[in-house]
Amino acid sequence: MSQLPPLNVPDYVKHRRLIAWVQQVVELTEPAQVHWVDGSPQEQAALTEQMVVAGKLVRLNPELRPNSYLACSDPNDVARVEDRTFICSAREEDAGPTNNWQDPALMRETLQGLFKGCMRGRTLYVIPFSMGPLGSPIAHIGVELSDSPYVVLNMRIMTRMGRAVYEVLGEEGHFVPCLHTVGVPLQAGEADVRWPCNPTKYIVHFPETREIWSYGSGYGGNALLGKKCFALRIASTMARDEGWLAEHMLILGVESPQGEKHYVAAAFPSACGKTNFAMLIPPAGMEGWKVTTVGDDIAWIKPGADGRLRAINPEYGYFGVAPGTSEFTNRNAMATLRENVIFTNVALTEDGDVWWEGMSKTPPARLTDWTGQAWTPDCGRKAAHPNARFTAPASQCPSIDDAWEDPAGVPISAFIFGGRRADTVPLAYQAPDWASGVYLAATLGSATTAAAVGEQGVVRRDPFAMLPFCGYHMGDYFQHWLRMVDGIAEVPPIFCVNWFQTNAEGRFVWPGFGDNMRVLKWIIQRCQGQAQGRQTALGVVPRHEDLDWNGTEFPAELFEQLTRVDAARWSQELSRQQTWLAQLGNKLPAALQQRHAQLSDAIAACQRALAA
Ligand code: GTP
Ligand code: SPV
Ligand code: MN
Repeated sequence: MSQLPPLNVPDYVKHRRLIAWVQQVVELTEPAQVHWVDGSPQEQAALTEQMVVAGKLVRLNPELRPNSYLACSDPNDVARVEDRTFICSAREEDAGPTNNWQDPALMRETLQGLFKGCMRGRTLYVIPFSMGPLGSPIAHIGVELSDSPYVVLNMRIMTRMGRAVYEVLGEEGHFVPCLHTVGVPLQAGEADVRWPCNPTKYIVHFPETREIWSYGSGYGGNALLGKKCFALRIASTMARDEGWLAEHMLILGVESPQGEKHYVAAAFPSACGKTNFAMLIPPAGMEGWKVTTVGDDIAWIKPGADGRLRAINPEYGYFGVAPGTSEFTNRNAMATLRENVIFTNVALTEDGDVWWEGMSKTPPARLTDWTGQAWTPDCGRKAAHPNARFTAPASQCPSIDDAWEDPAGVPISAFIFGGRRADTVPLAYQAPDWASGVYLAATLGSATTAAAVGEQGVVRRDPFAMLPFCGYHMGDYFQHWLRMVDGIAEVPPIFCVNWFQTNAEGRFVWPGFGDNMRVLKWIIQRCQGQAQGRQTALGVVPRHEDLDWNGTEFPAELFEQLTRVDAARWSQELSRQQTWLAQLGNKLPAALQQRHAQLSDAIAACQRALAA
């Protein structure tokens, strides 16, 4: 056994259980040193400098992109690994059929073996962080122990991280222990690689003891444990136990020209438009409308004393998809990215700035691509990885909402669910009631994207956009949603949207981005009982005349296609939904089975009417 380093506990850390846990982890993982992260700018500068010198970060041209850096990952470590993500509840039925389950005792044995000596030659960083505003009653604290300085720098942007967390934690405060390693010990004198990671990966959650163990990956949701692991998988089980919701949702504010303000929360699967919708800039002709950003990925939602559902964004920054982000599609994001950004897996320009597909119409003549190779527009490869990301402080977003740090949260007027569907699902519709809305969310389908490793572009069920993130049985989760509005005075209406229908050439039919404001306005006006629509089997769908077309022209026939409920397609869709729901067995809530029967009858009636 190698010599263990001194703990060097700073005098401001008074939490004995935390110190004992760090000691235990040091004994298990055998790091060369322990660094208690304080979150200061000096620390950030020193860590960054060290990584630049080691070739792990590229400092971007400070005139073009001040205090910003590029990290490029191992080509085998570019996204979440869903098949290596585990929910180790005591009972298998508490994880449910949509999660990978393993017996917690067996898993602990496996992890003990993997973590033994895994940090040799490396520094163990102790990263204290708060999900939610520091010290607020709705916030929860975590401590991540990681051997990745990249994780430290990202956590500093994504969470409220650093010394001040210990004041809130005190001597006995509750924290979620999050243990992370890249899984690549270093021999004495051995040089490190640019992006260490292990071909074996384990992203493990113990929901009962609220613990996270992550092995082998340095990327995004696998490694920044405050995000998907804590704020969704662990938090969703806390929320189930305590009567609230932890959701894969953006939160935005909408202000009408008359100054009336509403907030909506929207769940779209990974890489399906949350960041873009949250930062929407209304199109020419709709200037009187204003959209503000509370959050772009995660919402914690609780019943408020005022009888409304209130939502907070537990994060402090954005870990957003780079490709497709441009001055034309998301000007607010581009402004957010001006400085203090970590870019991951994008391309490097000759003048030391970044580029990715979709950033400009004409690509630069020469680039260094995300794998470090010379790139030209005709080389046949992508310059940025499709899941390339930026990490940027939320406070830099021009559209940030005044209430984004309000611990009381913002009151939610409507929920929106949407997937990436080339056909079948109309541009927008409103579910007739809460249970029907829960049904549409529970049966949401979406084409898979580069945000997770695996086959791309195949439609799968992604209930509530939470398939990879729900820490317990999906049937129990649906039941929890059905019950959430008991005692709620203003039950938010539920809508479905689909920005992604394509034509015969495979092109998107709906312009999307800023033009999504037209649908959002209809949604807000539906909430106020102002906008009309057409009754369909699914619910109310907007007609061409129900949308504001100011500043543009969109042919009525094309709109008719985008909003059609095709009975033949829906008949197939409903049978796919039934197959998926059937997996839940006796945990499928009766209300959802009833809604399925009702929809099937309605669609069958449409088919009979068409045949007649
Ligand atoms: P995660 O961070 O993975 O949870 O993703 P997200 O839901 O925040 O997705 P994001 O807004 O980053 O969008 C993902 C991709 O979809 C980007 O390439 C966007 O440019 C593209 N996109 C977003 N909104 C629209 C839209 O309205 N229409 C079209 N066609 N593409 C869109
Ligand atoms: C997602 O995949 O939904 C993300 C990126 O937001 S990650 O943090 O990697 O999960
Ligand atoms: Mn996400």
